[in-house]
Amino acid sequence: APPPSTPTKAEQPGSLFSLTPFLPVHLTGTKYSCGSGGCGACTVMVSRYDPKTKKIHHYPVTACLVPICSLYGAAVTTVEGVGSIKTRIHPVQERLAKCHGTQCGFCSPGMVMSIYTLLRNHPEPTPEQITEALGGNLCRCTGYRPIVESGKTFCAESAVCQMKGSGKCCMDQEENISEVPFVFCFVEMCTKLYNEDEFQPFDPSQEPIFPPELIRMAEDPNKRRLTFRGKRTTWITPVNLNDLLELKTNFPEAPIIMGNTAVGPSIKFRDEFHPVFISPLGLQELYFVDSTDDGVTIGAGYSLAQLNDALHFIVSEQPKEKTKTYHALLKHLRTLAGAQIRNMATLGGHVVSRPNFSDLNPILAAGNATINLISKEGKRQIPLDGRFLEKSPEANLKSEETVLSVYIPHSTRWHFVSGLRIAQRQENAFAMVNAGMSVKFEDGTDTIKELQMFYGSVGPTVVSASKTCQQLTGRYWNDQMLSDACQLVLDEIYIPPDAEGGMVEYRRTLIISLLFKFYLKVRRGLNKMVRTTSLGLWFPDIPERFVSALEDFPIETPQGIQMFQCVDPYQPPQDPVGHPVMHQSAIKHTTGEAVFVDDIPPISQELFLAVVTSTRAHAKIILIDTSEALALPGVADVITAEDVPGDNNYQGEIFYAQNEVICVGQIVCTVAADTYAHAKEAAKKVRIVYEDLEPRIITIEQALEHNSFLSAEKKIEQGNVEQAFKHVDQIIEGEVHVEGQEHFYMETQTILAIPQEEDKEMVLHLGTQFQTHVQEYVAAALNIPRNRIACHTKRAGGAFGGKVSKPALLGAVSAVAANKTGRPIRFILERGDDMLITAGRHPLLGKYKIGFMNNGVIKAADIEYYINGGCTPDESELVMEFIVLRCENAYYIPNFRCRGRPCKTNLPSNTAFRGFGFPQGIVVSEAYITAVASQCNLTPEQVKEINMYKRTSRTVHKQIFNPEPLRRCWKECLEKSSFSARKLAAEEFNKKNYWKKRGLAVVPMKFTVGMPTTFYNQAAALVHIYLDGSVLVSHGGCELGQGLHTKMIQVASRELNIPESYIHLSETNTTTVPNATFTAGSMGADINGKAVQNACQILKARLQPVIRKNPKGTWEEWISEAYEESINLSTTGYFKGYQTNMDWKKGEGDAFPYFVYGASCSEVEVDCLTGAHKLLRTDIFMDAAFSINPAVDIGQIEGAFVQGMGFYTIEELKYSPEGVLYSRGPDDYKIPTVTEIPEEFNVTLVRSQNPIAIYSSKGLGEAGMFLGSSVLFAIYDAVAAARRERGLTKTFTLSSPATPELIRMTCVDQFTDMVRVVRRAPY
Ligand SMILES: Cc1cc2nc3c(=O)[nH]c(=O)nc-3n(C[C@H](O)[C@H](O)[C@H](O)COP(=O)(O)OP(=O)(O)OC[C@H]3O[C@@H](n4cnc5c(N)ncnc54)[C@H](O)[C@@H]3O)c2cc1C
Ligand code: FES
Ligand code: FES
Repeated sequence: APPPSTPTKAEQPGSLFSLTPFLPVHLTGTKYSCGSGGCGACTVMVSRYDPKTKKIHHYPVTACLVPICSLYGAAVTTVEGVGSIKTRIHPVQERLAKCHGTQCGFCSPGMVMSIYTLLRNHPEPTPEQITEALGGNLCRCTGYRPIVESGKTFCAESAVCQMKGSGKCCMDQEENISEVPFVFCFVEMCTKLYNEDEFQPFDPSQEPIFPPELIRMAEDPNKRRLTFRGKRTTWITPVNLNDLLELKTNFPEAPIIMGNTAVGPSIKFRDEFHPVFISPLGLQELYFVDSTDDGVTIGAGYSLAQLNDALHFIVSEQPKEKTKTYHALLKHLRTLAGAQIRNMATLGGHVVSRPNFSDLNPILAAGNATINLISKEGKRQIPLDGRFLEKSPEANLKSEETVLSVYIPHSTRWHFVSGLRIAQRQENAFAMVNAGMSVKFEDGTDTIKELQMFYGSVGPTVVSASKTCQQLTGRYWNDQMLSDACQLVLDEIYIPPDAEGGMVEYRRTLIISLLFKFYLKVRRGLNKMVRTTSLGLWFPDIPERFVSALEDFPIETPQGIQMFQCVDPYQPPQDPVGHPVMHQSAIKHTTGEAVFVDDIPPISQELFLAVVTSTRAHAKIILIDTSEALALPGVADVITAEDVPGDNNYQGEIFYAQNEVICVGQIVCTVAADTYAHAKEAAKKVRIVYEDLEPRIITIEQALEHNSFLSAEKKIEQGNVEQAFKHVDQIIEGEVHVEGQEHFYMETQTILAIPQEEDKEMVLHLGTQFQTHVQEYVAAALNIPRNRIACHTKRAGGAFGGKVSKPALLGAVSAVAANKTGRPIRFILERGDDMLITAGRHPLLGKYKIGFMNNGVIKAADIEYYINGGCTPDESELVMEFIVLRCENAYYIPNFRCRGRPCKTNLPSNTAFRGFGFPQGIVVSEAYITAVASQCNLTPEQVKEINMYKRTSRTVHKQIFNPEPLRRCWKECLEKSSFSARKLAAEEFNKKNYWKKRGLAVVPMKFTVGMPTTFYNQAAALVHIYLDGSVLVSHGGCELGQGLHTKMIQVASRELNIPESYIHLSETNTTTVPNATFTAGSMGADINGKAVQNACQILKARLQPVIRKNPKGTWEEWISEAYEESINLSTTGYFKGYQTNMDWKKGEGDAFPYFVYGASCSEVEVDCLTGAHKLLRTDIFMDAAFSINPAVDIGQIEGAFVQGMGFYTIEELKYSPEGVLYSRGPDDYKIPTVTEIPEEFNVTLVRSQNPIAIYSSKGLGEAGMFLGSSVLFAIYDAVAAARRERGLTKTFTLSSPATPELIRMTCVDQFTDMVRVVRRAPY
């Protein structure tokens, strides 16, 4: 185990208890992102030697939940131990990098560790094992496809071939080009983003050996009890079972720590405290499987992963009828948490902690499992039944008792056991409702002998529907029984309207929908059983149309084809432009050597900052009492508004709340202390007295009531809307709600502010998209000129718009603290604080009135938009301008009016987010197109086609554009995705399946790049050539994972005509390139590329005389010669900016430099009974013009699409009516994981011309986001099919996100009807 040494990483909450901060000096590869085991960024491999089997067991864990003391005797391998640039990189690291599986790189070490650990156990894994191994690792950038692909290169039969089994690629052999399905405008298309021939071979025998001294320790016959004493807590590891029982008697209140996945989060997030911990992890007596004729007994120490393996073995050995409980457990074990948690959490810990969402306990109870207990008093057995799960005091363990094992009986012939669950996400998400159900029949009949139903997530504990079950005993298993069962169970399991977690109607619907699924399964089982045994009995089978309701969606390994233009064969081989060049930092990402702000070693005297945020949405601050906090150990100071030397309220943004608070989450004060733990502890002791103020405005509707806005209305208009409404066949009106989104960048906002000795200088290291803004705010807060403030950004671990304006606010907050204390300040927002304070995408309300002809031609549209801007201006006005300017999307509507206003509310201020309003706004356009289609009995695709721009035209704001690439993307998308044929197939499927429905949708896109103001589009660069010929490029753009620096090196390489290896790009800072604009709006590479190009061209021109003199010379010779001739080898480069303008008074202007077009087609399958959906396939056609780097561009498109898909489907922020954000971490805010991405995911870069941009390229950072809405509208299509079949013909609006709850409740049926009418029985 690593020795507890100086923490190098910022000490995180609860860190005394977790491994992360104890990783030895300079091991910064293991990342900290959530601290709750939910993201996998901190994955490391633990290896233990088992003296019984003499085998070494390697497994992945999330270091943030691993108690350091639990690692005694274990070997821990971090990403540094796998490979490093300094020594040798490992094939896992190399392939993840070369397959373009890293963007920002913050998740990459965790990904490496998950794949590496899998390979240690399975050197030739299957693709399914790769997907399974990655289920606990979140990535917000890539969309997972390239990560999975890098893992697949290790599979026995490499499944990575882009040509789907042909084993060839157009780049390999010329004749294969004809095999490539698509050729556009005579542009040859490639499909190979990397060359696997470059991979070093993987030799599993070369891995480091397990330390022999740990084997000796494990086999030592004289082992003794281990005790670790901390300042406040003591950790004891018993030497054997008797010792454990002794300890349990002496410390009955001490928790037993096994996986720590239940205790750890309680300590970290719920302030639980225990003076003593007993950890029998590894105690031989708790690890065994004992199989008998009647069942199996499994040791309590078995991890859930080991339980999974044991059950798989039993299932392979036993006849099917005996293994129904095991099958049910296995199904849930596949999706319960991620691989890391499954390897940490134990059976004993799971059973005893009895979480209300437990996936296993309901099944164990339904399978009549029993718990074997042991104490000094002896052994006893208790049933794992309803009373135990409901925590009845008499059914509890005694405090001195330990769970030794769990006995699970075999199922029997006339006995059926099932596990059912639905979660917001297929894997690694707590169930919204789950159930374990079993029924025993009188032999040979369908008469119920014993029925058991246990539900999770419907109350504070797992609950048993025991009354219902009793009442149904003796009944036949038929429809009437089901109908009565539904009524009874709804009466018995009551979820109060204000229940924690909300979704009351949905959860009640699920209670009976899951029961119905069980009913169907059993009926099918009975039918099959009797048929196979020929007993002469016959139980009717379920209708064929119901069969698909039985199975959950399978988890498939994603695959797909990426197509892009081949490089011109005449292009010089050294010129990298157009090639899929790997991200400049990719290898460093995967080895963990890429430095993020938190990785900067501790600075002498540095202090950590913790925030105290408002708990009220709108209130007067009566008192801030800091006395108790200041008295705590290690606390240096508490900083409030009083300490701001300059402006505390700058441009409407408030650094520290003063006199009043205007949202929950507003920073009221900060505490600076020697460790984060001290700062955090003290922050809890700051007492603030509030007096609530009126009004408290939370929603858009409330803002409209109070006339509360952040800025004036923005409007654009063409034609005569009022007149046009008089001459149309039909008019429809509607409202669409689009909820907000959390950025969930993997690296939370992190700032290191270092006050300098002289002249009030301040240096800030931070991950931002807009250094100039940080400099401006810090200067304002400190009241010093900007030339004293230097901002440095090496890289940010994802940003997505969330690091445009917020780092300025947080930078000012930290700088004020640094200024007051005179010491460096390290300010790392915890995930929960980050989500609370920095807010995200604006929720939107769209109201539309559409006039159209019966043939689908839309004549008039009147649209109103409102967004929830939150409590300060931030960028809300600009976001609204962008929504209004772009809301027509791809459609020409001759009479069109669009108005919008940002609302001022008492929520944290919403901000920029990839797409900048477009992804929300355009849902409204697509929604009314869909509604028109439904009214005209046309398909949405027909209405889109009818109304789409067809020739060079002017937008509503009068900007001229040629939609030819749009038409091409649209056409190709329909054709190449075989849309019509698949639509017919889906209709066929829908006819045959009542409870599952398929839907398809294609969305076209006309998106924009850049800003409507020229000066925002300017950029500068600084290029130095050194005397050895090496080149240092600096520019004003920030590397956020989007590959900007990689592209800039490609540009410099082409312009200077030197290999990329000569060029270095170190960081972005305000001292080399001042006044840089934000890196956002998809224009980072566009504008900085022009500036770098300009600088390189200036240098190249200066070198021309030298080159002419010695044309055969080398670059180094020319540079040396130039120096001797006193030629300046350094220059700035400049791009003045695209000429854009917008006159809002006239509602006209050439607002954008150019447009990006695209289309995507998605197909989904929806489970009407649960609301779950599966994304079967997506095809994206994106107009990339000429891609400077197809790997980077495809990575942006895929990543943005998956982020968009999350936004439109599963990402759901929840607030209380009082404006308190509930979703503050990966446990309750679900971004897509590897299981959500399309099973088949094809992306094609469509070639076009864009002479205005560098190398005729296009900015593609954001465009993919909106294409995720094809999933939303495919879901709409599937739900519409279900509703039509159920006789519901009225047009409906599916708001965004289409969560399982929304889908289920929109698929109206007898179960939703029952829930809506059934009220609680009056007892
Ligand atoms: C990120 C994350 C995701 C999760 N997702 C899911 C999910 O999808 N579905 C689900 O069902 N669960 C999920 N869980 C919960 C997880 O299953 C439980 O936390 C886990 O099973 C507890 O086991 P443990 O060994 O970690 O318990 P510990 O935290 O070590 O201990 C838990 C409790 O059990 C007691 N205990 C442990 N062993 C014994 C014993 N042998 N005898 C007596 N008492 C004992 C301890 O005293 C303690 O009170 C998730 C947890 C995390 C952190
Ligand atoms: S930081 Fe450990 S799982 Fe997220
Ligand atoms: S690359 Fe995965 S989170 Fe950025």
